[in-house]
Amino acid sequence: METDSDLKRTQYCGDLRLEHEGKDVVLKGWVDRRRDLGKLIFIDLRDRTGKCQVVFNPEKDAELHKKAEKLRGEFVIAVVGKIVKRVQANATISTGEIEVVVSDLRILNEAETPPIAINEDGGESEEIRLKYRFLDLRRPAMQKNIMFRAAVMQETRQLLSKMGFIEIETPILMKSTPEGARDFLVPSRVNKGKFYALPQSPQTYKQLLMVSGFDKYFQIAKCFRDEDLRADRQPEFTQIDIEMSFPTPQVIYDTFGKFVADLFKHTIGVDVGKIPSMSYYDAMNIYGSDKPDTRFGMEMHTVSLLFAKTEFKVFRSVVESGGAIKAINAPACGDLTRKVVDQLTEVVVASGAKGLVWGKVNDQGLEGPSAKFFAPETISALVQNLNAKPGDMVFMVAADTTVANKALGALRLEIAKRKEMAKKDQFSLLWVTEFPLFEYSETDKRWSPMHHPFTAPLEEDISLLYSPEYYLARARAYDLVLNGNEIGGGSIRIHSAGLQSKVFELLGISEAEAQRKFGFLLNAFKYGAPPHGGLAFGLDRLVMIMLGLDSIRDVIPFPKTTTAQSLMDDCPSTVDAGQLKELGIRLE
Ligand code: AMO
Repeated sequence: METDSDLKRTQYCGDLRLEHEGKDVVLKGWVDRRRDLGKLIFIDLRDRTGKCQVVFNPEKDAELHKKAEKLRGEFVIAVVGKIVKRVQANATISTGEIEVVVSDLRILNEAETPPIAINEDGGESEEIRLKYRFLDLRRPAMQKNIMFRAAVMQETRQLLSKMGFIEIETPILMKSTPEGARDFLVPSRVNKGKFYALPQSPQTYKQLLMVSGFDKYFQIAKCFRDEDLRADRQPEFTQIDIEMSFPTPQVIYDTFGKFVADLFKHTIGVDVGKIPSMSYYDAMNIYGSDKPDTRFGMEMHTVSLLFAKTEFKVFRSVVESGGAIKAINAPACGDLTRKVVDQLTEVVVASGAKGLVWGKVNDQGLEGPSAKFFAPETISALVQNLNAKPGDMVFMVAADTTVANKALGALRLEIAKRKEMAKKDQFSLLWVTEFPLFEYSETDKRWSPMHHPFTAPLEEDISLLYSPEYYLARARAYDLVLNGNEIGGGSIRIHSAGLQSKVFELLGISEAEAQRKFGFLLNAFKYGAPPHGGLAFGLDRLVMIMLGLDSIRDVIPFPKTTTAQSLMDDCPSTVDAGQLKELGIRLE
């Protein structure tokens, strides 16, 4: 006798169309919904491709109909039947023109009522979704996300392989290397008292692979960082990690600009065009951010000169003390209420500004509480400078330049959010280039690398490293920004031992410390290291934005919560005393 497992599936549910009319099929899947209409029983049968309607008619087969009465949501079944045209088509689903008239039904497994409904978004808390992730993942929306992620990974492999990049795996158990975050450590049983670190990224290995002569490397790499989590950050995430020999930054922008454009074209059919670039300095000055959202304008303008002699004391004193007056024009925002403007003021105050000056643009000039302090010619120059039109709203902040940039940058994002200026199906990419080599760490009270210590300075800034103003040096480092998110970053690396020693010295890393931490890399550079550079894309972030989602947890099959826990399998968890003893570890 034919067993259930002998019964071979002929089709996926979601693939059935009118052209299959008259065909005998075997389908396997989950009961999405059961409806008893008069005597007929209708089942929506679901698999990963979609749903199709399956019908049991008691007049055709009373016994089969009786069996179908037992079916409940999420039972796993196999049906044998014939495809027929539906009397009344359902235009809302792709298989809506046909149904399957059943001649055999096998119940392969029963199911308890699941804690979350698979066939609808029940609006459960994310905790419940994560606890029952295996069910959450059965939902069509999540299946779509995970399958799209797979398509992006496949396309990445194909595109990069075609471009001559070689996929090479690197260790997960490695020596701790600094990438700015805390390491996850793994104790060694064999070498008691010693630890491996999980890679924050394969940075040092990919540089070593260049020394080995592989010329072009890539890897879809798991990275681990023990850092505070946010909607776009996970302790365990995936990078598309790349390195190549002999590049210039321009080669990187051209090569990977094309890679990203092809990836968009091939996976979501979107043409992102040629990706523009902008220096870090300009990005901060114009958008107040090193990852500007360029889907909308509202660029910042420095208007200090217009107010150099103003009566308005607040402005004049800021200009006199060397600060800046910066302005943005918010198009068609003249209708913002006083209450909203007060809330916007809170946004700039949270960024360190003392206040927000605003005015609605009308035919006469500007209308607002501070307008009376400004001379008519100042107002008309301001309106002209900002290219503002009646119905727009002008905002100004007077402060130290850094504070003004930050405050108006935050304001710009807030206005865009409230006015829904940024569309999720619009994709705006930007290379941000020439990042500073160093940034000041307030916690450590010293200069630290903005990217990582192997980042090369701009050639014209190398001499600065030997001056007291070394911290002004710019790096051959770049980020790729998509809709206000950093989706990738990298740099041209230092390949000369002399320059690397100088950077270590400026970072306050002694020769002994450098040897202890990165001796293996410095040693490798002695034996013919080619000039090299690369970058890494955050795969999770990229997939999230391509899908128009807000949380990377929705594109990661088994993510952690913001407190770095996996609720499904209750991890991290305690371990047996024996396990600890074997590792030579005693808990405090
Ligand atoms: P970086 O640290 O900028 O560079 O990381 C590269 C990209 O990885 C993504 N990313 C993350 N995604 C999710 N969760 C996180 N916790 C997380 N951290 C980073 C971001 C980021 O742009 N080795 C260098 C690359 C290089 O120099 O070649 C590196 O790791 O999208």
